[in-house]
Amino acid sequence: MAIVISGKELATLRRGAMKEEVSTFTEKYGRVPHLAVVLVGEDPGSVSYVAGKEKACIEIGIKNTTIRRPNTISQDELLAIVNELNQDDSVDGILVQLPLPKHMDSDFIINAIVPEKDVDGFHPYNVASLYLKQPGTVSCTPKGIMEILDYAHIEIEGKRAVVIGRSNIVGMPVSKLLLDRNATVTICHSRTKNISEVTSEADILIAAVGKPLFVKADMVKEGAVVIDVGVNRNPETGKLCGDVDFEAVKDKASYITKVPGGVGPMTITCLMENTIECFLKHME
Ligand code: GUN
Repeated sequence: MAIVISGKELATLRRGAMKEEVSTFTEKYGRVPHLAVVLVGEDPGSVSYVAGKEKACIEIGIKNTTIRRPNTISQDELLAIVNELNQDDSVDGILVQLPLPKHMDSDFIINAIVPEKDVDGFHPYNVASLYLKQPGTVSCTPKGIMEILDYAHIEIEGKRAVVIGRSNIVGMPVSKLLLDRNATVTICHSRTKNISEVTSEADILIAAVGKPLFVKADMVKEGAVVIDVGVNRNPETGKLCGDVDFEAVKDKASYITKVPGGVGPMTITCLMENTIECFLKHME
């Protein structure tokens, strides 16, 4: 049976340390960090993510403002909100919850956030900084995955890492972060032929494909480290489940993360870290 790496446990540790750090800020800087979250509509996933962000801010002592607007607002109205937050010197971080309603161009809105306040690391400037190894904000889920690997003392250098999924928010950036740590990285996707053959070579397997229980035991090498980034509903039970068939894979892997309680809590924790980083740069 694999060792289960608890993202929840790591998140608790990190949040405790951040709380202590933030408690020194009022004296040092005259105020605490301030994160502004914009939530358009009532997508259940988004509502739940935003509630998790609010809870984490309260826990750590970060000021949080959530701006809620109905699905019916226009793109121009949303742009005006972003511009106001850009100019508001009391705001250190801006997060526009995705997905946005269909009548909006998400890229256009994300591009409108000033890069220094882009706590998600989604702005093209921050994305480019990652690929050019320049200072910038790294997006939360890939950052959280690396923190989980480090927490479990997983050696990355020289290892064969396989990432399933090529999204801009997870697959691509985590591949770059693993490459920067000298792993040999392969990215699999929906057109990959003989995907099991590829994934079976992984010392470190990152599943970020968005398909419930996609990774089965025969896709995993004996002793592999398996990180499950999926947040899906199990079509049979309706329960939250990952991209990995945990019950089948746990006896083959050496380390594994669970859903829930794995990568998810670290995503929000890294958002808090990014908010503090943006605040500290703002205070320089
Ligand atoms: N929707 C799902 N995950 C995220 C995230 O990390 N950031 C934003 N802005 N929206 C999301």
